[in-house]
Amino acid sequence: MAANLAIIMVTILFLVIHHQTTPTTAATNVVKTEVFRSPEMVMEPGLVSNKDYFNVEFPRGHIGLKSFNAELVDERGNLLPLHEVYLHHWVLNRYFARENRSGADDLSIVRNSGICGNRLTQYFGVGAETRRTSTYIPHPYAIQVGDPATIPEGYEEGWVLNVHAIDTRGADDKMGCTECRCNLYGFSEAGGGLHCCPDDGRCRLKQGFRGENKTIYLRYTVKYVDWDSSSIVPVDIYILDVTDVWTKADQSKGIRATHYCKVEYGVESCGVGVEKDGCVDTKSVTFSFPVGGEVVYGVGHQHAGGVGTTLYDQGGRTICSSKPIYGEGNEAGNEAGFIVGMSTCYPTPAAPVKILAGETLTLVSNYSSVESHTGVMALFYLLLAHSQPKPLPTLASKFMMVPEFVWPIVLLGVVVIVVVVAWKGIIGNSEGYETIP
Ligand SMILES: *[C@@H]1O[C@H](CO)[C@@H](O)[C@H](O)[C@H]1NC(C)=O
Ligand SMILES: *[C@@H]1O[C@H](CO)[C@@H](O)[C@H](O)[C@H]1NC(C)=O
Ligand SMILES: *[C@@H]1O[C@H](CO)[C@@H](O)[C@H](O)[C@H]1NC(C)=O
Repeated sequence: MAANLAIIMVTILFLVIHHQTTPTTAATNVVKTEVFRSPEMVMEPGLVSNKDYFNVEFPRGHIGLKSFNAELVDERGNLLPLHEVYLHHWVLNRYFARENRSGADDLSIVRNSGICGNRLTQYFGVGAETRRTSTYIPHPYAIQVGDPATIPEGYEEGWVLNVHAIDTRGADDKMGCTECRCNLYGFSEAGGGLHCCPDDGRCRLKQGFRGENKTIYLRYTVKYVDWDSSSIVPVDIYILDVTDVWTKADQSKGIRATHYCKVEYGVESCGVGVEKDGCVDTKSVTFSFPVGGEVVYGVGHQHAGGVGTTLYDQGGRTICSSKPIYGEGNEAGNEAGFIVGMSTCYPTPAAPVKILAGETLTLVSNYSSVESHTGVMALFYLLLAHSQPKPLPTLASKFMMVPEFVWPIVLLGVVVIVVVVAWKGIIGNSEGYETIP
């Protein structure tokens, strides 16, 4: 009798608790998706567009970013293939802004956590590989933004999107245009790089080529969750660059380490007489990483010609190796000759990857040197967690979490059972417990 009652009570308690806790945990971690379009870019054959769009549309409030994907589309939303309009890069930066007394915008970029001192301040940013590169941050991690406690009084958080696109329709040398080779853009200097394909620059076209103007957009998709510090673990963004010119810190003199990132470099052709297999240009950089943490996500960034980039720890073990995926067809997302994706790293809790504060890391980038390349890059984007995910609530702590208003319901249930059992006891006295109505 008493045992029966106890079982019924526990069952009711369990049902009530289960009903109360399951939906609330799920609701806070619902991933929301919003799709936006950048301001329009009017392209014509050979034209470069490299503009900053301040205050672009973006989810507002205290949120955790889960992913950011982007691609070029035309006015009807059709995907543009890279061999028509090449997406050199897009970069999303965060800032705080306010209108100052003279009515001008007082604006400061909120840099990611490092490590370049001069550039690469973005939260997200890739290039041609955008369509097939996962940017998803797994549960329980997210990039925390919009926290009112970190936005200075009187300021507002905003986002600036930089899009660098090159219209290569009718180009004399399509690949050369995408590599920003100076001679193709009317500059007399050798080599290439971003300085030779500035906004409104023009790449050389085949003689007599004519093509219509085209209005294009960067369509971007942001996934996020409402921030909840009890269930989300924040991650910090670090961008490493193989061209980083690093000067060591000198504690005795109070000098901090500096990182000057050149971002671009050139690859020389291995020349005639070298076997094709041997034509690999290897560039590497070794530096001390300033903070410790657990790797949640890693991805490299390379341009066409790239054959892989790897980050090694102090012991020479691989932290993350990211390889390019080359297209094989003609359609958007699979353009032959272009890097259409980069492989990513998602260490699992079973095989965690940690970086220690002050650990010496080495970043290696390989490019094919069968042909020369200009304006290439090798960046590594890392997301690190500095705290451990909180353990899942145990049954005991679930009991503690039962909201106060639930207890009267539980009590009512107990009262009902007691009354029913007592009533059954009274009317069933003569027939005993075996009564079947
Ligand atoms: C578009 O075409 C017109 C001529 O039809 C031209 O004047 C204009 O400059 C073109 N380019 C852009 C980027 O608007
Ligand atoms: C307002 O901001 C502009 C641009 O940053 C700056 O040049 C100007 O000096 C500022 N004026 C005041 C009164 O702070
Ligand atoms: C780079 O190329 C060298 C030489 O071919 C090779 O030993 C190394 O494993 C490669 N590293 C990466 C990151 O691809």
